[in-house]
Amino acid sequence: MSNDSQNTKKTLLSGVKPTGRPHIGNYFGAMKQFVDLQDSNNCFFMIADYHAVTTVQNKKELQDNILGVALDYLAIGIDPSKSIVFQQSAILEHMELSWIFDCITTMPYLMRAHAFKDAEAKNKEINVGTFNYPMLMAADILLYNPDIVPVGQDQKQHVEITRDTAEKFNRIFGDTFKIPEPTILKDAGVIPGTDGQKMSKSYNNTIPLFATDEEITKAVMKIVTDSSGNKPMNVYNIHLPIYNALHGETASLDALYEANAGKYKVLKDALVADLIAFIGPLREKRAALEQNLDSVKAILKAGAEKAKAVAESKMTEVREKVGVTL
Ligand code: ADP
Ligand code: TRP
Repeated sequence: MSNDSQNTKKTLLSGVKPTGRPHIGNYFGAMKQFVDLQDSNNCFFMIADYHAVTTVQNKKELQDNILGVALDYLAIGIDPSKSIVFQQSAILEHMELSWIFDCITTMPYLMRAHAFKDAEAKNKEINVGTFNYPMLMAADILLYNPDIVPVGQDQKQHVEITRDTAEKFNRIFGDTFKIPEPTILKDAGVIPGTDGQKMSKSYNNTIPLFATDEEITKAVMKIVTDSSGNKPMNVYNIHLPIYNALHGETASLDALYEANAGKYKVLKDALVADLIAFIGPLREKRAALEQNLDSVKAILKAGAEKAKAVAESKMTEVREKVGVTL
């Protein structure tokens, strides 16, 4: 690749919180799009492990989740020769910058964040990490001067908080941070779960992305079918993205569903077969990578070295502007 085409590439940063197994809704809504974006952008994919500590407070579980996200991303095609994959906790500058942001942000401002308001509405005991969560996310983003921050709709407010925080810092200490654009991921359509609600780990209605054949069959047989029309939409809406991933974006399932109108068992069996055809190879690739965890750790280490160089240079500028360097 020529230097010219590298220079015209935009910088993209996104993060995933390592809190559990991904499902096919996560894949079509976010993960697959990251794979597609890595050819035309300089990408940073961060494993937001310190963000996970607000809820995951068990050593083994956190370690497994961190390696799990790395395996998931490598298995679906994130290519470490093109993209930088790294652990947030490996770059201490994230914590340092988030403290500075804490100092220029007010409590009433953070109290307006959706995540805090939701937790408060549920009367949850909220830890300080959850309250400050948007400041760490602002640091994650602003250290790398990204042009684009692709996130799901639920994270848009956090990117807006990041923009406000960058503007505030720039006003107080002088122009330092680029104001990033939140790029809401292409609306892949909400993938329904087995109960017809949005597929979500909070609803216990998921089909895991790396599910075993048994898990796939069990989940599909659980899908609630609506008998009012002749197309079981809960089956069809899961089937279509899988079918398109296997046969191309324009392939249509309509003929199959019309020919088998009302035959829910036949249609569910067809969905099981396509899920197995789609998930099987991903699962095998992940299992092969899992056999060589040392090489996965080496990828994270090499990613952290590259990320560190960028974050360190930005933080040197920040320290000077704030006045802690004499
Ligand atoms: P969950 O609801 O399972 O907790 P997250 O909120 O962690 O999922 O979502 C991670 C990413 O996956 C977000 O970008 C989100 O928009 C996307 N996503 C999650 N569920 C779905 C779904 N059912 N359909 C499409 N995209 C989804
Ligand atoms: N807060 C995001 C989530 O819960 C994860 C995240 C952390 C992130 N830091 C980020 C996303 C920086 C984009 C950019 O999904």
